[in-house]
Amino acid sequence: MEENNSDDEEINPFTSLLIEQQQQNTKPNPFTTAQNNNQQLLQNHFIHSIQSTVIIRQLPSEGIAFQLWPAATSLVSLLDTHRINPTTSPLSTVFTTLNRPPRILELGSGTGIVGIVAAATLGTNVTLTDLPNVVPNLKFNAEVNADVVASSGGAVTFAPLRWGHSADVDMIRDEFDVVIASDVVYHDHLYDPLIETLRFMLIGKKIVFVMAHMKRWKKESTFFKKARKYFSIDVLHVDAPSNGSRVGVVVYRFVDKKSR
Ligand SMILES: C[S@@+](CC[C@H](N)C(=O)[O-])C[C@H]1O[C@@H](n2cnc3c(N)ncnc32)[C@H](O)[C@@H]1O
Repeated sequence: MEENNSDDEEINPFTSLLIEQQQQNTKPNPFTTAQNNNQQLLQNHFIHSIQSTVIIRQLPSEGIAFQLWPAATSLVSLLDTHRINPTTSPLSTVFTTLNRPPRILELGSGTGIVGIVAAATLGTNVTLTDLPNVVPNLKFNAEVNADVVASSGGAVTFAPLRWGHSADVDMIRDEFDVVIASDVVYHDHLYDPLIETLRFMLIGKKIVFVMAHMKRWKKESTFFKKARKYFSIDVLHVDAPSNGSRVGVVVYRFVDKKSR
């Protein structure tokens, strides 16, 4: 079949969720799911390394920010295995270089699962961020998991942070070692604001950005071409396509180019 060579190889989140759901139909769903009449989806995610369950509320009818995307699932698995064996984990270069738990900020948190699992598995403070209308669901998910996170020595807070608005970053007064995100590269009009926020947070600092990205195989987005002007970008981990899919997840590490 002929490849689509359009410049933007990004996966439309709606299409990708469909792909994920089709794949899940052919294998057992690892999560228990309950849905009530308010179109609220509560999922239990068992995190093996801490022998605890993280509960995430999705509100699918509210839009893409209220659903769990495939790259988030990849990052959650990596965080879980990192806690089990931090020395061989693909995330070791990110999290084991400090002699204290890394302070983390998540961009475009959506449901907040990645940041919540990071706080629980690393025993650290994580700030979840997203557009203002998404924050109430982040608050719900942070609060429902507060005990699990606290029992590992972590804590989760939340704040609005619109990409391209440096004042939003300034409002969050904490300092961070690592910025994380999953499935945030999906619309070309968001590339420049996201890169602007990353420049504001990373340039001239030792902060590392870890991004899980769902991509159409063997193609690279113009986002990366733009981002490479400012950042060195390495691949930490690859979940290659399976079951005939052409979509996989890659986890990247970005650092200020000049800090290399
Ligand atoms: C495809 S969803 C991914 C959500 C979540 N990270 C996940 O993987 O499940 C993209 C996220 O980016 C957020 N987002 C989009 N544009 C944004 C912007 N300009 N500023 C901040 N967040 C934004 C959305 O609200 C949404 O939560």
